[in-house]
Amino acid sequence: MTILEDYRAKHPKSAALAERARQAIPGGITHDIRYLLPFGTYVARSLGSHKWDVDGHEYVDYWMGHGALFVGHCHPAVVRAVQEQVARVTHVGGSHELEIRWAELVNGLVPSAELTRFTMSGTEATHLAMRVARAYTGRSKVVKLSGHFHGWHDAVTVGVNPPYDMPISAGVPAGTLEHVVVCPPNDIKAVELAFDAGDVAAIILEPAGGQSGTTPTIPGYLHELRALTRKHGVVLIFDEVITGFRYAPGGAQQYFDVTPDLTTLAKIVAGGLPGGALTGQAAIMSMLAHRDDAEWDRTRRVAHAGTFNANPMSAAAGIATLELVSDPSRQAHAGKLGDALRQGLNDARRRASAPGEIYGEASIYHVSFDGRPGLAGPDRPKKGALYHLLRCALLNNGVDCSPNHGWISAVHTDEDIERTIDSYERAFRAMAAERVFDGT
Ligand SMILES: Cc1ncc(COP(=O)(O)O)c(C=O)c1O
Repeated sequence: MTILEDYRAKHPKSAALAERARQAIPGGITHDIRYLLPFGTYVARSLGSHKWDVDGHEYVDYWMGHGALFVGHCHPAVVRAVQEQVARVTHVGGSHELEIRWAELVNGLVPSAELTRFTMSGTEATHLAMRVARAYTGRSKVVKLSGHFHGWHDAVTVGVNPPYDMPISAGVPAGTLEHVVVCPPNDIKAVELAFDAGDVAAIILEPAGGQSGTTPTIPGYLHELRALTRKHGVVLIFDEVITGFRYAPGGAQQYFDVTPDLTTLAKIVAGGLPGGALTGQAAIMSMLAHRDDAEWDRTRRVAHAGTFNANPMSAAAGIATLELVSDPSRQAHAGKLGDALRQGLNDARRRASAPGEIYGEASIYHVSFDGRPGLAGPDRPKKGALYHLLRCALLNNGVDCSPNHGWISAVHTDEDIERTIDSYERAFRAMAAERVFDGT
């Protein structure tokens, strides 16, 4: 039986749901990264590091809610906090005490955080960060790095995947992109040239490297960037939507010991419910504050609305989660498993004669059939079909992860890691048997 025949045979209920979804939802999916050929699996329930699909299969999970569930699916403290809150008040359309506690926790954990404003997603957080930086500096351009992902709003659609000068989406006006300058990663000279050209409000980047560290940041680069941004009065924005609370309780900025001016957060910050945040230096964050001064409020202040900002449900889940992740032994445990998994997967890959490399840092791993990309990132699009097939082969063998990354949580176990290495070896062997690696 081929991988896809096996996949179809094992997942008849998911196949039926996928067909029904295609009649109701464009393409049948609600996030581009959930696209899987021939169809995705439908999840029925989850607990800790495992989840079960509608056909009754159990998986070790490395999606972990797109990385949001660092303390695992349905952690008892998070479940309790959410259950208590849902019966009390789900949404007030006004202020409530939990949002203060939530912000205090962020401010206590993240080195750059003095004041925090909540959003509903990481996309909103990066959008707001760019607006705040522009208002603060009175300049219009923002530098981003190629291969770095900051969500789906227009301004950050460029410089994400090769070819880097082409937005990842249709429907983005060229005018929006005139204010975005894309520089190669790990190239401080290119950034200096962009700053010298003038009118740069901010630089935004994923501190550990683009797309969750797919192209890792070279040692020293962040320190050089910190010095350069200070020299030019450019706002340094770390997008820690992935790395926040994961690399360390204080995120990648604590891990690499470089403090930015602004930080964007999402995923772990909201404990698996929808949410995000912009945090940073009080002077810059205060661009969002009313001053009881009609002139300031109307013409100079940064406007920010959002019906569900800091809603009590997300606040309750976020508080319970941040209290847990403030204990660094959780990040240390996940990082140790990360080292064991990367090593074990590379050994499995070699035994199965699959090409490429498994690499990564802290509690994230990347699978690349092309090997580790150079310092400037991949120079051509990924071999999409191979990663789809790998994912199906893994789902046939009890593991689920994003097409080419995995997020390890603080509740994964040594047994999970052993089982995952075994599943990958079976998946690689099944792919090699279909000769899909010939010519790679
Ligand atoms: C680094 C980074 N920034 C921003 C975002 C966008 O966050 P959201 O999906 O919550 O809009 C993501 C999402 O994966 C991300 O990885």
